[in-house]
Amino acid sequence: MQISVFGIGYVGAVSSACLANDGHHVIAVDPNPQKVGPLNEGISPIVEPGLGELIQSGIHNRRLMATSDVREAVNGTDISFVCVGTPSRSNGSLDTSYVSAVAEQIGAAIREKNSFHSVVMRSTILPGTMESIVLPALERASGRQAGVGFGVAYYPEFLRESTAISDYYDPGAIIFGRHDQATVDRLVEIHKIFKVEPRIVSIRTAEAVKYTNNAWHALKISFANEIGNICKEAGIDGHAVMDVLCADNRLNISKAYLKPGFAFGGSCLPKDLRALRFAARKLDVPTPILDATMDANEEQLRRAYSMVAATGKRRIGIIGLSFKPETDDLRESPLVELAERLYGRGYDIRIYDPNIQVSKLTGANLQFVKAHLPHLASLLTADVNEVIDHADAFVLGNREEAKRLLSIVQDDRPLIDLVRIDQTRCSGDFYQGICW
Ligand SMILES: NC(=O)c1ccc[n+]([C@@H]2O[C@H](COP(=O)([O-])OP(=O)(O)OC[C@H]3O[C@@H](n4cnc5c(N)ncnc54)[C@H](O)[C@@H]3O)[C@@H](O)[C@H]2O)c1
Repeated sequence: MQISVFGIGYVGAVSSACLANDGHHVIAVDPNPQKVGPLNEGISPIVEPGLGELIQSGIHNRRLMATSDVREAVNGTDISFVCVGTPSRSNGSLDTSYVSAVAEQIGAAIREKNSFHSVVMRSTILPGTMESIVLPALERASGRQAGVGFGVAYYPEFLRESTAISDYYDPGAIIFGRHDQATVDRLVEIHKIFKVEPRIVSIRTAEAVKYTNNAWHALKISFANEIGNICKEAGIDGHAVMDVLCADNRLNISKAYLKPGFAFGGSCLPKDLRALRFAARKLDVPTPILDATMDANEEQLRRAYSMVAATGKRRIGIIGLSFKPETDDLRESPLVELAERLYGRGYDIRIYDPNIQVSKLTGANLQFVKAHLPHLASLLTADVNEVIDHADAFVLGNREEAKRLLSIVQDDRPLIDLVRIDQTRCSGDFYQGICW
């Protein structure tokens, strides 16, 4: 394919050289002559292992060239990859000025082009930027409608400097944010050499994935550092601890615990986090990540409470009370905490959880209930119909039982879903998921 790449920086230089190496004809574009000149002489503008050789061979085979002429690049290619910078401003906001400028330039060139051109954004941009900045700039400058007069997609870049070429050829994931099928088809064609199947999602989802990825990587680094700091002061090798942690592919390096939902609870996580933070304090080690984890959990509880309050209803049916399904363990269940807050603020609640019979609770479990929800026996019912008859709104905290409830309830009473009873359902009207 004929491909233009806008921006000969860390991303653009690698993409241009690799695409040329894959057999495409690539025109790399940059207003900076110090990028264009060296590239045309086969010299890499950046330090990156293996890149110099790829650029040299691209120039030698005449599959790669550089220019500052936007019109020449758009006219001579079918698809443009945009890899311009999106730096931070001093207040932390994202500087999209290069993105909007390049969209205007490409749009103006599309105005004079006869064939269908696709514009694929690769720069990191916040969700909504394609819709609010890039598309309007392209449409304004081209005088054409996106999807009809030209194509658009968002395709986030995940390469890491210093391993950029091996990341390019062995990507963990390929994600295309779709606007029009013609552009997605071109992207699929370019990427058919890769083992990974591209995931095709909405543009906003693709924009969000890039930030979520980077936030996740940053969080992992700071978590590992914090554990290392605590371990060192306790005379333990932090690497040995993290090596063993990483060996568990079921619970640790896995999808486990990575679905947005309600607060964590139960007899272990809150207790053990508290103890670890206390132990670190005694060792004089700050634990900002662990502290924030507890704060984030409290925030999720507050969020659930606010969602119930926002319904304006006072008679609330709660489905599920234990900290997870198929157990009667109520210790530090966030649903107990939520019920306690609602009850304490005068809500008239009924609770249905078939695993719980107050008369059978014993030991620490019973003590917890006595301390937090002493009236549980009068709020709990073994008959789901009693909750249905009582409630003006429902809190769904147990997926299976909630499904059962919904097969009976066929009206539009507000539903606050904390467990995602149905993957296909998103917030709207009377149904509200806590974070979907
Ligand atoms: N560097 C990375 O490892 C990496 C990885 C993934 C994603 N990203 C994202 O990719 C984007 C590019 O990052 P980078 O590190 O390559 O940036 P960079 O600053 O190295 O390169 C940007 C290039 O764009 C050029 N440019 C500016 N305006 C232009 C225009 N109108 N037309 C053509 N070229 C123009 C600049 O002259 C510069 O050469 C950013 O959004 C970044 O967040 C970077």
